[in-house]
Parts: sequence; C-alpha cells; structure tokens
Amino acid sequence: MTDIARAVALLRAGELVAFPTETVYGLGANAANPAAVAKIFAAKGRPADHPLIVHVADATQLDRWAIDIPAAATQLAAAFWPGPLTLILKRHPGVPNAVTGGQDTIGLRVPNHPLALQLLSEFGGGLAAPSANRFGRISPTTAAHVGDELGDRVSLILDGGPCAVGIESTIVDLSGDAPRVLRPGMISAAQIGEALGAPLKSESAQAPVPRVSGSLEAHYAPRTPLCLLPFAALLEASRRALDGGSCVAVLSLSGFPHDARGIIWRQLGNEPQSYARALYAALRELDALGLDLILVELPPDEEDWRGVLDRLRRAAIGSGRPSIAPLT
Ligand code: TXA
Ligand code: MG
Repeated sequence: MTDIARAVALLRAGELVAFPTETVYGLGANAANPAAVAKIFAAKGRPADHPLIVHVADATQLDRWAIDIPAAATQLAAAFWPGPLTLILKRHPGVPNAVTGGQDTIGLRVPNHPLALQLLSEFGGGLAAPSANRFGRISPTTAAHVGDELGDRVSLILDGGPCAVGIESTIVDLSGDAPRVLRPGMISAAQIGEALGAPLKSESAQAPVPRVSGSLEAHYAPRTPLCLLPFAALLEASRRALDGGSCVAVLSLSGFPHDARGIIWRQLGNEPQSYARALYAALRELDALGLDLILVELPPDEEDWRGVLDRLRRAAIGSGRPSIAPLT
C-alpha cells in the first residue's frame, strides 16, 4: 500500500494525517466528519471556536463548501490556485460547525504541493487542516518538525520535504462588501489588487478584523525571549547582552559584525522569498538552544516583506519575557 493510499484510508476512518503544503505542514482531517475534525482541536490544544481552512483539490469544488461565490473568488482562484492563498467565503449550510467555529463563513484553499494535490484528489473530499503545530507554537516546515510537535497524536505524517514558501497562506476575506486581507502572506495585497483589477482598500481604512486565530497577538511564538530591532540597535543590544553574561543569538538579513565572538549568528538574506522559506526552521533551531535572548533584525518596511514582518511581530509578542532589557 502506498503512503497516499494509507493516508486516504486513515482519513476515511476519521483519523488525522499530517501532510505537506507549499506554505507549512497541515494537520488534516475529513472536513465532512465532525468527530474527525474534533480530533484536530484535541491534538493541537486549540480552542474549539477557532475556524479551520478547508483544503480542496481544485476550484471546481468551491460550491460544495461555499455559497454566493463572488466573481472575485473565481478571479483570484484562477490567478493564484494552486497556491498560498486562502479565500473566506459565505459558508455552505452543509458544512459542519466544527470546521467554521460556528461562523457563517468558511476558509478555502488549493495548496500547491504535489503530495497534497495527489492526496486531495484521491481522497475526493475536503480536508480541514490547520498548521500541524501545538496551538500558539511555530508552524512546522518539515516532516520532522511535525513529529516534534505532535508525536503520536497524529496517525501518519506524509513527508514531502521542506516547504517552499515557508510561512502561512495570505487570507483574503471575500464575504463582505470589499475584499480584505485578514492575514498577510507571500502573495501580497498589491498582487491581489492587480488580479482583481482594482487596488484593495488600505488596511487602516478597513473595519476591525473578525475572529482569526492568526490575528491573536501572541502566536507563532518561540519560548526564548525574542526582540525585533533595526541593525544598529541590534548590534548594540547583542553587545550589551553579552557583557551582561547572557547567551544570545542573532537572526540578521545580511549584516554581520566585525566581531561576532560569543554570539550565535544566522543570516537569512535580503530576499523575502528565501527568508520566509528559512525563517521557521531557524527560529525552531535557535529556540531549542535554550538561550537567554534571540535578536532579530527588522526587515524593510516594504510590500514584499509584509508577511514575514507580521510573523516576526507575533513571534516577538508571544515569546518569553526577556530577563534583561535589551535596550534601556
Ligand atoms: O498556509 C496555510 O494557510 C496553512 C496550511 C496548512 O494550509 N494553514 C494554516 O491554518 O495556517 P491555521 O489554522 O494555522 O490558520 C488558519 C487561519 C486562522 O487564523 C483562522 O482563524 C483563519 O485562518 N480562518 C479560517 N477560517 C476562517 C473564517 N471563516 N473567517 C476568518 N478567518 C478564518
Ligand atoms: Mg497555525
């Protein structure tokens, strides 16, 4: 029996299967089976009112899960699926409450990973799948990360190698009057506006974001205190921490000091795509070292960096409290 055939059999039996997507690994269950979906919440330790994204094999399945599908959904699906974009649409009445957290909308996405697409087409239905991490922790971008997070809480982990995108999908809400980005990702608001033929309203002009677990401030968090600083301030803070006897790691773009002695220094580069791809594995590696502090260089305030910046801010807010003040 192939791994895919085993995965399909387990999913049909109401079990959990972790699978790769291009963004992060997902913890999948049959979205039409409320008992199976309940197992996701138990395995993650996730509050039951947080809605899940349903993954489908292609856009022709949209109307099984959503109603009143606007033209914008068809346009965005054609432009970006399979790909790292989730659409929030009005929910079909047949969708179990467990999937949507009781909301009248549903998140849908066609992931761009060959194993995920094969799994979805052989399974035939929709797979509810959040990121395959314990609630509030860093999302997994390799099969080994999933094993570290969930252990035997999951029946099978399909290994599709490291994720090519590396941070979670962009979420666009199409259930209201105007399209809105609820969670930035590697598909930018500008690209979405371009595909729709009209720029999106700026975020500040938008009403408060509805309930999205990714919008909780503390999320994607390492246990080690993490501070986000511009390069000069980061150098200063790393020296001060070192002088105070602390163990520090730095995650920079491309900067490197004259003297990095005593500091664990990692460079993720100046290009947002490769930075995003490497980010979660780097945070996970540094977090496992049990350091006093992780200092992260603030990326540029540019459209292409929005998704990365969002995850870094959440990581900083959700991380442990620094035992030293890095900037006093
Ligand atoms: O890239 C991704 O989106 C990954 C992969 C596995 O597909 N999935 C992912 O799922 O990040 P999760 O559960 O970790 O985050 C899904 C986000 C949450 O913030 C959730 O609140 C939001 O999507 N969401 C789901 N359904 C929603 C809805 N109906 N309205 C608003 N937000 C929704
Ligand atoms: Mg998540």
